[in-house]
Amino acid sequence: MPKQPSFAGRVLTWFDQHGRKDLPWQYDTSPYRVWVSEIMLQQTQVRTVIPYFARFMQRFPDVQTLAAAPTDEVLHLWTGLGYYARARNLHRAAQQVCSEHAGSFPDNLEGLQSLPGIGRSTAGAILAIAFAQRASILDGNVKRVLARYHAVAGWPGQTAVHRQLWDFAEQHTPQRRVADYTQAMMDLGATLCTRSRPRCADCPLQDSCSAHAQGREGEFPGKKPRKVLPVRSTVFLILRDRQGHVLLQQRPASGIWGGLWCFPELDSVEAAAPWCRDRLGREPAATLPGPPFRHTFSHYHLDIQPLHVQLAIQPEAVMEASDQLWYNVQKPLEIGLAAPVARLLASL
Ligand code: ADE
Ligand code: SF4
Repeated sequence: MPKQPSFAGRVLTWFDQHGRKDLPWQYDTSPYRVWVSEIMLQQTQVRTVIPYFARFMQRFPDVQTLAAAPTDEVLHLWTGLGYYARARNLHRAAQQVCSEHAGSFPDNLEGLQSLPGIGRSTAGAILAIAFAQRASILDGNVKRVLARYHAVAGWPGQTAVHRQLWDFAEQHTPQRRVADYTQAMMDLGATLCTRSRPRCADCPLQDSCSAHAQGREGEFPGKKPRKVLPVRSTVFLILRDRQGHVLLQQRPASGIWGGLWCFPELDSVEAAAPWCRDRLGREPAATLPGPPFRHTFSHYHLDIQPLHVQLAIQPEAVMEASDQLWYNVQKPLEIGLAAPVARLLASL
């Protein structure tokens, strides 16, 4: 039986046939150019980066020029790429390379990782692509490929999962052609093993990919566990007068919906009648619960029970107060409304 090609062998064969080999940072792989490209590519797509990279290299052809430039000018050339901390770190790292490394990039993981903005994966990419050293990467794309290939369960933000993925990344990194392999893994993750609807039929790893064999590509990498949020409940009292005005109350400046206008809130449906007696001096003629719904805040769920109330006798202007108003649905005011309140008002 012929020997099965290794993981890296398959990836490299695919790269030879389909990989990108004409990107601007691929024809002159100096550490400076590779570093700048890797930083730009950290949160930005290849297509967007290409013109920025060209302008950047034209203005700052080497690390000394970059180090000597005013920060404003570096930020100016970054305008539109976003995540400006990257540009500030880039500038500081250039100055550090000049002051601490005599203008030459360190050729080892530790030295590279001591520069601002360079983590383990970016350091690995620079070593592999610019220095042809056997070094591994684990960016978001590669995490996805490896998590699927090995069916690694769990969220990669967890230490154990992250460590497992790094182990696989290192095991698969070949001794030779490590620059091509590195580029190939990033391209494979970006073009075939995409977050949704991966193109497994075109993937060089499909015969040995665990997630694909099980039809479970969508389950890897695992999602960040959602916190179980506590549930609270409230009753929104929707009081309308005969002209169709609705009573709103302004919430205290601090706390949820701070300063926004809301329906009066009660702890229970039973509290509606006493509330109307106390606050309006009127009995409710009828109460009608509307469909309950849930509103989720970052730290809890709020189950909301709308309760429509008709008063037996029209309230007078008794209750004009600075934190209460009768809101005319036909003539909306320019006031801040809590989102579910705006939705309920729109449905009246
Ligand atoms: N993302 C990060 N580095 C990259 C590279 N060199 N090519 C394509 N995408 C990347
Ligand atoms: Fe990703 Fe599919 Fe390839 Fe597996 S076979 S690595 S899921 S594209």
